[in-house]
Amino acid sequence: MTHEECLARAERELAASAAEVVDTFRLHYHFMPPAQWMNDPNGLVYFEGYYHVFYQHHPFGSAWGPMYWGHARSRDLITSEHLPIALAPSEDYDAAGCFSGSAVEAEGVLHLFYTGVREKGGQLVQVQCRATSTDGIHFEKDPSNPLIGEPPSDGSVDFRDPKVWRHGGRWYMAVGSGKDGGGRVLLYRSDNLSSWDYMGVLAESDGTQGSMWECPDVFPLGSKHVLLVSPMGTRGRRVIYFLGEMDYEAGRFTPESWGELDKGPDFYASQTFYGTERRILLAWMQSWEGRIPTQEHRWAGALTLPRELALDPAGRLRVYPAAEAAGLRIELLAADGLVLNGETAALPPCDLRSSGVELVLGADGAAVSGGELAIRFKDMGSGEWVTVGIRGQRLYLDTRAAAWGERGCYSSGLAPEQRSQEVRIFLDRSSLEVFGEGEAACITARIYPPSGVLEAELSSQGGPLKVDLAMWKLQARS
Ligand code: FRU
Repeated sequence: MTHEECLARAERELAASAAEVVDTFRLHYHFMPPAQWMNDPNGLVYFEGYYHVFYQHHPFGSAWGPMYWGHARSRDLITSEHLPIALAPSEDYDAAGCFSGSAVEAEGVLHLFYTGVREKGGQLVQVQCRATSTDGIHFEKDPSNPLIGEPPSDGSVDFRDPKVWRHGGRWYMAVGSGKDGGGRVLLYRSDNLSSWDYMGVLAESDGTQGSMWECPDVFPLGSKHVLLVSPMGTRGRRVIYFLGEMDYEAGRFTPESWGELDKGPDFYASQTFYGTERRILLAWMQSWEGRIPTQEHRWAGALTLPRELALDPAGRLRVYPAAEAAGLRIELLAADGLVLNGETAALPPCDLRSSGVELVLGADGAAVSGGELAIRFKDMGSGEWVTVGIRGQRLYLDTRAAAWGERGCYSSGLAPEQRSQEVRIFLDRSSLEVFGEGEAACITARIYPPSGVLEAELSSQGGPLKVDLAMWKLQARS
């Protein structure tokens, strides 16, 4: 079959399964596939007035399978339009799948770089390939694929997820790999996006950061460079960020500090946009571990809210919802200045069946650091709950009292010198994202409250606490 025929077959299958999707846990304002499976965001690029989002997609099932590249675009990062599937396995070199990769624009042409995967002797052979488009919708695979046909001796058979970017008039490509039990990023350079020279190992694990590094991303931020990787072989598999210096001549990144980009259980394989002034990030809002109830509903996987990265004056990596997220607000459900002194205050219930909810809590930093502020969301049907709060200068999400998601307690440090602490909580029908004021202070989890109506209750401990609260109804699915 030709590439076009493979795409057409996938589109037919997808349209048929979209008609069978069960609505229960569908999200109102997060990106998700029309039906069937998705994982990593791919090819994030700003091209001719649109943010393009591609994603790992299996149009033939709600579980992972041979990978296609799904495609959508958005003018505002919030509402998006589905486009035809962009890439399908169709050639010898990508017969087992078109794995993750990235996109850049050069002279009006959109270039997708992806990993072609084929099976040989029970192993997956991984090579780096390209497809191009002038209209941003139809893609042609490069006749000289694969552009990089084998890993260098610094790498291994795990050799995937090319991330391409431009610096100082030249093109660079970071590829994820691993060797001798340690994750690595391999670096290539090109002047024309077609022929690539191997430069060496850009960065590697210190022995505690995973055995294989998936989905590398390298970009400048303020006066530093950031390296993101999604490690295999660590518990929980969270995205790791490194802040450091990049030496483009030596092809070497020197890390100065590192941490987890999000502390929740459902955040992986992040990527940032190429071609925008701001550094905007999306990640797969699901994980390789745990049960995914929506698979029985003919779909699986979603993307996080778009997030913006910045360095604060103390050089810490901050992660915020992109400013566009405020455009989701359609109605103020509650606004209050409360003084809590040990008692609890009931808030309006969050009816997630009809729309999403955002809660903004502002509290005095000093007061909150000595005590505790907590908000409990209790499902009206099952009576089980999750709690978001601040305790001991940490932001936390506790899901141990709810069987409707991964059970755990996840936390992130807050900036101690911060005079006021603001916490933003985004609820959708089957997701929860929390953002606080600290280094990478965000926590993302999929939750599946059976009734979809959450009673919300605010409480404090340890002396009187003044809390400013705003609760917003967010845009509903159209
Ligand atoms: C990360 C990942 C990538 C790979 C893709 C396959 O989640 O394992 O390394 O390219 O997913 O779908």
